[in-house]
Amino acid sequence: MEAMDAEISVLLVDDDECLLELLGAALQRQGFRLTLASTQVQALRLLETLAFDAVVCDVCLDGDSDGAVVLEAARRLRPQTVVLLITGYRQAWDVDRAVAALKGGALDYLRKPVDPETLGATIRGGLREARLRSSGGELQFMELVDILSEMVANSIERVDPYTAGHGERTRKYCRMLAERCGLERTATERLELAAIAHDYGKIYLDDLGFLTKKGPLTADEYRAVQEHPRLGADKLGGHSQLEDVCQFVAEHHEKWDGTGYPRRLAGEEISLPGRILGVVEVFDSLATRRSYKDVWELPKTTEFFAAQRGKAFDPEVCDLFLELLDEHGPEWMRAPQEDLRAAGLECRG
Ligand SMILES: [Fe+2]
Repeated sequence: MEAMDAEISVLLVDDDECLLELLGAALQRQGFRLTLASTQVQALRLLETLAFDAVVCDVCLDGDSDGAVVLEAARRLRPQTVVLLITGYRQAWDVDRAVAALKGGALDYLRKPVDPETLGATIRGGLREARLRSSGGELQFMELVDILSEMVANSIERVDPYTAGHGERTRKYCRMLAERCGLERTATERLELAAIAHDYGKIYLDDLGFLTKKGPLTADEYRAVQEHPRLGADKLGGHSQLEDVCQFVAEHHEKWDGTGYPRRLAGEEISLPGRILGVVEVFDSLATRRSYKDVWELPKTTEFFAAQRGKAFDPEVCDLFLELLDEHGPEWMRAPQEDLRAAGLECRG
């Protein structure tokens, strides 16, 4: 997926510069190549000089300008380009314009606040369909896996919006850590699926309210939460192709010293992919503001991982993760907050 995304160029057009920058940064982190424009004039000039795989444009630009003009130019100048409209639904005519845009050839329109993961998935889906139409071929297996992975991630984020982007970031960091650990390719692909789906069990908890509850959980709530790795593994199904994915999901809260849950596995009783997922999942949770806790600073986070080496975490995996944190720490600490803001959960601009 990374290789395909690296080739996707996107022109993002919006007169709200805060949203433009945040959404652009969030798409960039998903591997898209971004060009930004804040006016209709800029967008038209770029469309005349550069080719884009996709154009994402606000329906309403600067009051009297119209995203449909950008749409029409994209259809005329670059017929292969996938065009998506975003709308604030602030005015009734926003809806009228969005409907007209669909008739004019836009692939779809999304309502603000735009979830960057949904936007990324829609762009990729639109390009896949366009490619399929032009080639008459069949979707590749891994592309189907990507589509299903995105659906799973969207389901988890729906029950707990503060996990926006958590699955995709976990997948990316797991892939990087797996590479450092020398994990072979098939196991890495299975780990990536488990990274996306690791919290799938949360959507089957009897009471979803406490996922976004402020403050600490009661003992009963904590016991219920501890069931989510097992629930997720069960609900992902018993297909033989998913056997190891389910195992990694079930292991993601186990700890090296045997104090994790649900099975209190210890050391190498936990698979290597399960140990990798355990480290990465904890990191991204610490770096994310949740309803019950604030974001940790990078020095405190680094200290935590160094202290938990050989306790919660496999010491060798932990050392390799600390190397990655040394290289990518500041960027990885910013990423969750940027994804939350881009999803409209924290943007104050
Ligand atoms: Fe979890």
